Amino acid sequence: SDPQDPDYRLVPHRNFNLINGIHSPDEVDQIQNWEIQESDIFVVTYPKSGTIWMQQILTMIEAKGDVSRTTEHPNAHRVPWIELIGSEKLFNAAPSPRLRVTHLQYKFMPLAIKQKMGKVIYVARNPKDVLVSYYHFHKYATMLETPKDFNDFFEKFMDGKVYGNCWFEHIKTWYAKRDYMNFLYITYEEMIQDLHCMVERICSFLGKDLTEEQIDSVVEHSSFKSMKQNPQANYKTVPDSLLDQKKGTFMRKGTIGDWKNHFTVAQSEKFDRVFQEKMRDLPLNFVWDI
Ligand code: A3P
Repeated sequence: SDPQDPDYRLVPHRNFNLINGIHSPDEVDQIQNWEIQESDIFVVTYPKSGTIWMQQILTMIEAKGDVSRTTEHPNAHRVPWIELIGSEKLFNAAPSPRLRVTHLQYKFMPLAIKQKMGKVIYVARNPKDVLVSYYHFHKYATMLETPKDFNDFFEKFMDGKVYGNCWFEHIKTWYAKRDYMNFLYITYEEMIQDLHCMVERICSFLGKDLTEEQIDSVVEHSSFKSMKQNPQANYKTVPDSLLDQKKGTFMRKGTIGDWKNHFTVAQSEKFDRVFQEKMRDLPLNFVWDI
């Protein structure tokens, strides 16, 4: 295919949509065989749940609060995607601790993490805000189909016809397996409400002993404002062939409850019905508004 004009589109593979041109089904199938070390750390998210935020926080924690690593190297190099083409070579060559990120479902993951090798941090966000953030992302992410309008995207999201597939399925399958892994569950809303406390929780999960000043520095440089100003923390350096910066921005709002500015009453009621039904067996609460 023409590298100037790649043929991006969603291609289902084992009931999960991959993006043609960015992911390879064969390589994704190899991930389960990856050799994992105890020090490996995987951030797992459904898209638009705070992935980039956790990339920043983890880099800052590993650097013990030294900001230079997050200003000199782009987030996707510091904490690369495991599902991208070519990722296994990078992974094998990387020094430990290896920080990685993924939107993949549990079934694709390295078998070793399902036997408590390495660590997993699952970041979840209230799914109405996820939907809104994902809608805006689709308007400028070149590899994703531009929605006709909000309702068009609302229906696609509810049907799981997006990258990441069904939000409910993603969180349920991951959360159900939490006891098989070294697993930390954390929400976007908790990070908004008390980032300092959450950074401490992440440090303690990772066995990192940072001083109070180092933690303060992690928090300071992981704020929405700092990340918006740091081109290496917010995808400002990626080419238009991936993200068309004229049409949007990655660090968009960074708030809780923006869904209220987008959902109609009918959409919200429909969403609530589906949420109640699908989440019946899952004891997870979300903050929808502050
Ligand atoms: P909005 O579109 O609602 O603003 P992901 O990295 O998983 O794609 O998530 C992107 C979302 O996280 C965007 O949400 C973005 O603004 C938000 N985000 C990123 N860094 C943040 C931070 N430091 N504080 C608050 N929100 C942040």
